[in-house]
Amino acid sequence: MSAQNTAIIAYGPEAIAEAARLIAAGEPVAVPTETVYGLAADATNGEAVARIYEAKGRPNFNPLIVHVRDASQAAEIALFEQQARELAERHWPGPLTLVLPLREGAPIASLVTAGLPTIAIRAPAHPAMQALLDAVGRPLAAPSANASGRISPTRARHVLASLGGRIPLIVDGGPTALGLESTIVALTGGPPRLLRPGPVDLGLALANEGRIEAPGQLGSHYAPAKPLRLDARGAGADEWLIGFGPVPGNSSLSGSGDLLEAAANLFERLHEAEASTASGIAVAPIPATGLGAAINDRLRRAAAPR
Ligand code: TXA
Ligand code: MG
Repeated sequence: MSAQNTAIIAYGPEAIAEAARLIAAGEPVAVPTETVYGLAADATNGEAVARIYEAKGRPNFNPLIVHVRDASQAAEIALFEQQARELAERHWPGPLTLVLPLREGAPIASLVTAGLPTIAIRAPAHPAMQALLDAVGRPLAAPSANASGRISPTRARHVLASLGGRIPLIVDGGPTALGLESTIVALTGGPPRLLRPGPVDLGLALANEGRIEAPGQLGSHYAPAKPLRLDARGAGADEWLIGFGPVPGNSSLSGSGDLLEAAANLFERLHEAEASTASGIAVAPIPATGLGAAINDRLRRAAAPR
């Protein structure tokens, strides 16, 4: 794609209809929120979520924020108890993200949470994102709409400069009102923990202050409880082999060797291998190109001695 292949349409009914059509087709679309522009995709579709990472060129899988219309849609996805309900009542729609326990059986692609049993959710206040959520009728995963390592975009032209040619559409809603990403608070047991300061001040001190915790390297990141061996062309004794392309395995990330499909399947396959009766996990070689870089990063971390 060249930059001309990225359409920019001013926010309005036409832009939302086109964005909803693309999202239903599994494409990511840039949309304004009240904080920064987000790169939104159907959170229930693993390959659509993998396309977010592909477009951003992100070398690792960081769990993403899921955007919903309101607290009742959030409660379909996450365990929404007293504390969460109170915060949502006071601050939604708005720039507050809650990290909550993921509801069992919630129709959320495992790539969204990077396999974690928790999920980050917010109901955005911007009418464009709200209209898109209404039109699609599904939760939308959306990180900031910038290439990996670049600053968050607060105008359509920032998105174009960073992702032009890599995404089909930018909905232009003018400059964002806040220009700063949402406050993130975890309500996953014990007192609320501030994970990222932002526009909503709850009077909490930043959790883990003084400790370096780069995004994507959260201590809580999912890692299987069994030893994991990389670049395996066959299963060893008592190993569950996760295949790819020509290596068949007990399961496969992608029989056709498609990296988008492999990324979408990664955390499901790891969980399945962990739940098997085998005492170890082996994974076939994955090419290091494109999304393969993020897949290999995740696998290397899962294989690292603990
Ligand atoms: O304002 C915002 O929040 C913007 C707009 C587009 O809504 N979105 C945004 O998303 O900033 P992103 O993907 O750039 O930031 C997501 C942050 C990451 O730091 C990630 O580690 C954290 O949320 N996060 C997501 N799920 C989590 C989880 N289950 N546990 C802990 N942290 C989580
Ligand atoms: Mg970001």
